[in-house]
Amino acid sequence: MQTILIQGGRPLSGTLAIHGSKNAALPVLTAAAAVPGLHRIENCPDIRDVHTTLEILTHLGASAALKDGTAYLDTRALVSAPVPRALACRMRSSVLFLGALLARFGRAEVPSPGGCVLGLRPLDQHLSGLARLGVDCQDREGRMCAEGKPTGGTVILRCPSVGATENLLLCALGASGPVQILGAAKEPEIVCLAAYLRACGAKIRGDGTSVLTIEPAELHSGEGRICPDRMEAATYLCAAAACGGSVTLTDLCPQDLEQVTGTLSKAGCAITPTETSLTIRAGALQSPGMVVTGPHPAFPTDAQAPVMAALLRAEGTTLFHETVFENRFRHVKALKDLGGEIRVQGQLASVRGVQALSGARMEGTDLRGAAAMVVGALGAEGTSVLTQAQHLERGYADLVPGLRALGAQIEALD
Ligand code: UD1
Repeated sequence: MQTILIQGGRPLSGTLAIHGSKNAALPVLTAAAAVPGLHRIENCPDIRDVHTTLEILTHLGASAALKDGTAYLDTRALVSAPVPRALACRMRSSVLFLGALLARFGRAEVPSPGGCVLGLRPLDQHLSGLARLGVDCQDREGRMCAEGKPTGGTVILRCPSVGATENLLLCALGASGPVQILGAAKEPEIVCLAAYLRACGAKIRGDGTSVLTIEPAELHSGEGRICPDRMEAATYLCAAAACGGSVTLTDLCPQDLEQVTGTLSKAGCAITPTETSLTIRAGALQSPGMVVTGPHPAFPTDAQAPVMAALLRAEGTTLFHETVFENRFRHVKALKDLGGEIRVQGQLASVRGVQALSGARMEGTDLRGAAAMVVGALGAEGTSVLTQAQHLERGYADLVPGLRALGAQIEALD
């Protein structure tokens, strides 16, 4: 899917089920490398990053298949071979193979990871944390080469990095003594990873808080389920807000979306939750004021771009303060091409609501940026063309069919 054609300006309506979370599925699948045995993981989204993770596992000697949303893995024969650069550079989470392979083999070699370009994305917290656990990790021409059986100990994270927390949690599975991670990230995807590891016998406490404790334990085969994708849900909520209409999303966890639903409610959308669903009714929008991104439970940086796109026509001025990544306004140019009035100064973007938007030609920049362009185009009159749309395949299962099911005029051209 390189190019998407969108005829905007039509309200959305209908009901859609949300898939499993990309950002939970990737670490859980990677965790299977640390745990020799059979793994059955339900609700895995059929997206490119999941397939890349399965390819890496297969390269390392596992058998891995995804059938009807369930991943079946046999990691008993897996070895600690170098992760191929061609696979590692497709996504950020490939770096988690460091922790997983170290836990099981005391040795790992992983090239610098890829993923969305959002400015500098250092790995210092991953590497200093691993060093704290007794692992020697060196960068040899763009390959991280780590060696050493992890010991116990306390790691203090300077910032609550999701990836570093996951990497250290995985590495700690093989530690000879208890490990404490202070300043850990609290995202729901980490809670999902910890739940899966507990199903494999791991002794983990404190997930969802900033103090994680991992004690040595025998690990074994496991079964589990990936939590709902809050970013996929946020994207559909934004599409409904941008277009107007009434949409119900099922199979999700409303608590994990409180920042996004709170912002859209302030903007005038009526949002009704049940235990596992959300219904949004959207009409004319007004500015919700200021949106400040931050680590969970603050407003998620991944939802910043789609929410900005949803609010291009909201009356008044909305201010976005991006505090997590230094270069996360790459979607702004495309949204301006649609007619959005946006000014960016450093980490701040101010959006002054306009009466109407009109279709434009846009180029996808990154996963959530491209999603924002789809949302913006759905709210614009006339035809939009999104090129470089393949970014979306990394993280959205069936985005185009999903939006079509809600009445959007959207099609993938190739
Ligand atoms: C994960 C998510 C991504 C999301 C991000 C923040 C996955 C696959 N990706 O990315 O979708 O946008 O969390 O919620 O789950 N940092 C350092 N040093 C480090 C590590 C991180 O300074 O060693 C900084 C980063 O530059 C960034 C901040 O910490 O400013 C948060 O990054 P982090 O939580 O690590 O994001 P990722 O795990 O890469």
